Amino acid sequence: MKTDTPITIRRADYAPPAYLVDTVDLAFDLDPAATIVRAKLALRRNPKAAQDAPLRLDGEGLVLREARLDGAVLPPERLQLGADGSLAIADPPSAGLLETMVRIAPEANTALSGLYTSGGNFYTQCEAEGFRRITFFPDRPDVMSRYTVTITADRTLCPVMLSNGNPHGSGHAEGNRHWVRWVDPHPKPSYLFALVAGDLIDVHDHFTTRSGKLVSLNIWVRRGDEPRCAHAMDSLKRSMAWDEEVFGLEYDLDIFNIAAVSDFNMGAMENKGLNVFNTKYVLASPESATDGDWQGIETVIAHEYFHNWTGNRVTCRDWFQLSLKEGLTVFRDQEFSADMGSRAVKRIRDVRGLRAAQFPEDAGPMAHPVRPDSYIEIDNFYTPTVYQKGAEVVRLIHTRIGPAAFRKGMDLYIARNDNQAVTIEDFVSAMQDASGINLDGFMGWYDQAGTPEVTAEDHYDSATRRFTLTLRQRTPPTAGQLEKKPLPIPVAMGLLGPDGTELPMRLEGENTTQSGTRTILLEGAEQSFTFVDVPAPPLPSLLRGFSAPVKLKGVPRDRLRFLAVHDSDPFVRWESGQQYAASVMLEMIAAQQRGEALGFDEALAEAVTNTLAMAETDPAFAAEALVLPGEGFLADQMEVADPVGIHLVRRHLRAEIGRRCGAVLRANYDALTDTGPYRIDGRSIGRRALRNACLAYLATAGDTLLAKAQFDGASNMTDSLAALSLLADTMGEARESALAAFHARWRGDDLVLDKWFSIQAMAAREDVIEQVRALYAHTDFDLRNPNRARSLIGAFASGNPAHFHDASGEGYRFLADAVIALDPINGSIAARLIGPLGQWRRQSETRGALMRRELQRILDIPNLSKGTFEKASKALH
Ligand code: TRP
Ligand code: ZN
Repeated sequence: MKTDTPITIRRADYAPPAYLVDTVDLAFDLDPAATIVRAKLALRRNPKAAQDAPLRLDGEGLVLREARLDGAVLPPERLQLGADGSLAIADPPSAGLLETMVRIAPEANTALSGLYTSGGNFYTQCEAEGFRRITFFPDRPDVMSRYTVTITADRTLCPVMLSNGNPHGSGHAEGNRHWVRWVDPHPKPSYLFALVAGDLIDVHDHFTTRSGKLVSLNIWVRRGDEPRCAHAMDSLKRSMAWDEEVFGLEYDLDIFNIAAVSDFNMGAMENKGLNVFNTKYVLASPESATDGDWQGIETVIAHEYFHNWTGNRVTCRDWFQLSLKEGLTVFRDQEFSADMGSRAVKRIRDVRGLRAAQFPEDAGPMAHPVRPDSYIEIDNFYTPTVYQKGAEVVRLIHTRIGPAAFRKGMDLYIARNDNQAVTIEDFVSAMQDASGINLDGFMGWYDQAGTPEVTAEDHYDSATRRFTLTLRQRTPPTAGQLEKKPLPIPVAMGLLGPDGTELPMRLEGENTTQSGTRTILLEGAEQSFTFVDVPAPPLPSLLRGFSAPVKLKGVPRDRLRFLAVHDSDPFVRWESGQQYAASVMLEMIAAQQRGEALGFDEALAEAVTNTLAMAETDPAFAAEALVLPGEGFLADQMEVADPVGIHLVRRHLRAEIGRRCGAVLRANYDALTDTGPYRIDGRSIGRRALRNACLAYLATAGDTLLAKAQFDGASNMTDSLAALSLLADTMGEARESALAAFHARWRGDDLVLDKWFSIQAMAAREDVIEQVRALYAHTDFDLRNPNRARSLIGAFASGNPAHFHDASGEGYRFLADAVIALDPINGSIAARLIGPLGQWRRQSETRGALMRRELQRILDIPNLSKGTFEKASKALH
């Protein structure tokens, strides 16, 4: 049992740092087993802090060899090493030069936080609190310093040595060693420090900024990976041009480096001038990467690049403000991708992702505001709420004030806060001041957890030609926040006439009429909007473009059908189709629970036929419309989830549609076959997505041969994987031979092998838990590699609800076993995997009891990491 409960950090307790560090001079002597780090910190008391506050530096696992103050060795009695690894200095001066020398062991660092090795090379990861694992430092984002970094290492082992900023000299050192120096002219917080060294090769290009500055661009990879960097480089150049064009933001150094590493805790990291990336978001070739991977690379490259201004130049005062940089930067990368491809399809995908990951989080035990009030381990707050919901809140402000005012607000935000560590209020007030629109209410979106539910009621009076729309909102209580207040909700809307055309809109009191989409603002718990001069009984189209992250409930089925066909807004068309299908499916699930036979709603077959008939104009949109609502989306709408029942109904319906629409699905499948060379433009991607959506129906209806033929003949990973995942659900020989062939072909490619693990972990087969256990013991499985761990454990627990929730409890037991094994290796990844066990309140009592038992078993492990402790204990309560 844990004896010392970890400390909770609270937002309300913020105090400015006691000391500031103007400059940092770091010298690394790299060695995998014993690296020496010398740091010179120019310290001075913070004029904004108490002048008698102690001088305490964060540290974790550092072996202190020597400390000097202004050149004089500090005697042991002036050095106090804390139990947490920190270092305090007794009788501190008001200013001085502190020099420390520490020893660390990068090759023993399995947590991948701080300085670690991967494949014999050196990499760092410092966000959020990894810098303290490299040297003693006030490791908090409101301490911003100018860094000079000198790296010395063996010439053969580390021909390449990189850090932040611009290069500033290099030379020979003793033995077979050499050194390089990097100087970063921009002050930055310690979490943006980076070092990469090793035997790497670079793909080089350049970019000229619009003010005429030439920037050298380099992507550093393992030897042999160079041919797979072209898409990442292209995405980078497009990101740089886009940020200049849309936000007027230029790059601010002579060189921009990206290093790709296969052992990495997250997607990528925006270190100043030296982004470090998970190989998953850099490397792509048609044979090895899916269209989804291709799009992921574009998005993540853009995201990290955009952080250069939103995150790096203007950073966070403390980690509670994390969404200040993440929500804003996700919003920016979403807008970039929308501009690069189809805006409507991008929006649909983002909303699908929000509902799959963020809505359940907001409704479960880990629910927290976009700006949390407290945490034990900040690593646990890199969540869909901080990122995706945070981006939705920025989008709300964008919708409320309009794009021109938003741009002015961004300019003001940067002008006021450049080179400073600031808060979310600073962002909102810049938007408010630039627009002249009061945004006070929008702070509620940052401070209140939970997803608001919105309902609409309306009435048309043909005598007075008045149409009254009444909107109501309510947010269910969340852990620690039982009372909820109404939030400002911009509702983008239109009115459709009986023939489906848009009606002009004029609100009572207005003297002009608007047509097309307009946005009304719901601010109270209930509000009515009266439209005048409405010529015919209208049907309201609400929440166009998903103008707010809310659940719009209770739209009747006949209206959904009408909107799915007639609305001018593609999002509402897609959404109405999905809601219609969801409502039919929920009814089927209920019927199944009562032991009744499952009927079939002809309207669904009709919708499939209609969608296919119009697919030619926008195949990517048609593909989105064709896919039935996901299992998680359905579970989210049930009082008590029935994961097995949901899965059975969804498969049944897929097979039924596959049979009833077989001919038209097959005709489309054939017509969508591309014979030319592989292309990754939006239209080609859309055609592949649509063709694979057709295949999914046909294969579920029994056409395994078609899936096998596609697998055998596939010339790109998208088609190969789509077919393989359908074969993986089947029982015959075709499955075994396809999986074996795939493994044989790709066993040398980690990123593709991850897919091989995931497909089997997510398969719809009775014996999947046994298979997952066997894969866990497979020679190619490696718990230490985060991508591999996620590809099996995460894919099973999050991507296969029907089997994760197996009535035996074996799925829960497998997850808990894996978390317990992983925690001592990498606590941050272990904590992240716990999520699905936290959904026990939404499950039946028997399942809930089994889930709680596994959470308790995790909590009973001695010396649990504080992140895993926080996740498991919050999940349990
Ligand atoms: N700031 C990074 C991003 O949003 C993500 C990040 C945070 C991260 N902590 C990390 C990445 C730890 C790797 C490891 O892009
Ligand atoms: Zn980010």
